[in-house]
Amino acid sequence: MFSQETYIRRRRTLTTKVCAGILFFPANNEMSFNYPANTYSYRQDSTFLYYFGIDNPGYAGIMDVDAGVEILFGNEVTMDDIIWSGALPSLSETAHSTGIHVTKPFDQLAEYLKKAQSLGRKIHYLPPYRDDIKIFIHETLGIPFSELKKQASEDLIKGVVAMRSVKEIQEIEDIERTVDVAYLMHTAAMRMAHEGKIEQEIAGVVEGLAISHGRSVSFPVILSQNGQILHNHGHNNPLQNGRLMVTDAGAESAMRYCSDITRTVPVGGKFSQQQKEIYEIALKANVEVAKAVRPDVFYKDIHLMACEIIATGLTDLGLMKGNPKDAVAAGAHALFMPHGLGHMLGLDVHDMENLGENYVGYDNTVQRSSQFGLAFLRLARKLQPGFVLTDEPGIYFIPALIDLWKSEGKHNDFINYSKLEAYRDFGGIRIEDDILVTENGARVLGKPIPKTVAEIETEMQKAI
Ligand code: GLY
Ligand code: MN
Repeated sequence: MFSQETYIRRRRTLTTKVCAGILFFPANNEMSFNYPANTYSYRQDSTFLYYFGIDNPGYAGIMDVDAGVEILFGNEVTMDDIIWSGALPSLSETAHSTGIHVTKPFDQLAEYLKKAQSLGRKIHYLPPYRDDIKIFIHETLGIPFSELKKQASEDLIKGVVAMRSVKEIQEIEDIERTVDVAYLMHTAAMRMAHEGKIEQEIAGVVEGLAISHGRSVSFPVILSQNGQILHNHGHNNPLQNGRLMVTDAGAESAMRYCSDITRTVPVGGKFSQQQKEIYEIALKANVEVAKAVRPDVFYKDIHLMACEIIATGLTDLGLMKGNPKDAVAAGAHALFMPHGLGHMLGLDVHDMENLGENYVGYDNTVQRSSQFGLAFLRLARKLQPGFVLTDEPGIYFIPALIDLWKSEGKHNDFINYSKLEAYRDFGGIRIEDDILVTENGARVLGKPIPKTVAEIETEMQKAI
């Protein structure tokens, strides 16, 4: 946990953004895996963590903005708890650690909320994403399931997004530590990426390093020689020379902050000429993005800049044709990069995505596009100092998509379909770093992880 003052200050700031009513923050519960007592690894709700810092189930936080009262609902520790889990802080000690003076038994929460509602008080809640919390809100406040998301408080969403988007120094330091763990994970993967190794042998080491140096991975490891499948969690292929291995993996700290890093390496340790040519284009996009990130620039414009670098590179190789700017405007480049350039990063890998991506990545100055590719951009709005975001351009050769577009004659003016035949088995490349927006530019976080062709080839020579 951060200091008590951190949580007191954050809650006080939130009340300047949501000026009336009751703010309700439920902690996450344990989730069952295959029978009730066998639970998934516990994950607290990130917004609850941000405002209360308590990383355990069985709590709910209330801020009565009108009365200036904060309440922590929870249960007293029982002897059963102590037998099962060892010594635990009392409810009042837990409340004290987050700077709250009033506690109530958890089973009084529903009555408390119902009474407030009956008095006409506005109860602000965030969009629930777990079924147990949905059921609780539905049963307590009588809101139909189909209305739960719509009736979530827009004022509260906007207040939380405004605060969580701008990271404090102590948060940045923690994120940066997780990037340093990612350094260990990715360099280990590079050294292991040799023919015959099964992907899962490497994925296991990558995940183990995250567990050994922090809490765990920040999302399920993506590691594959079929990197053209963007979120490939299947890890059972023996690596083959000639393939590219994409590893997209990050660590979660004890405080629950995340890193999210991707590297792509040639199985066996040496890029072929064809791989090198495509890799250098993706790398240029990644590097130029880091240079372009600064306050007051729309990330959408940086996304488009990255797409133009990719379209230009592919045009130089003869895979695309025509004017790259026009190709990007038409969306033709999305055959090769069918995803957005990046997203916010923090307590969540896709930070605050549960609050609604359009609140996090968009605002009234920039609307989400409906064009294939650009539509998937998670962060488009103007950048501010303190934002932490990912820079993750990619170039993929997805046979099914190529075949579909070719059969439709899509973007014939910009794509040389005949030249793509030689790339059907290429796979994909993604290169991802985590970046802090500073007062006048940007800083790539963490210990630099090998990224150039030479750096990767050198790292891959090292002993496992
Ligand atoms: N690294 C996983 C993602 O950004 O979706
Ligand atoms: Mn990412």
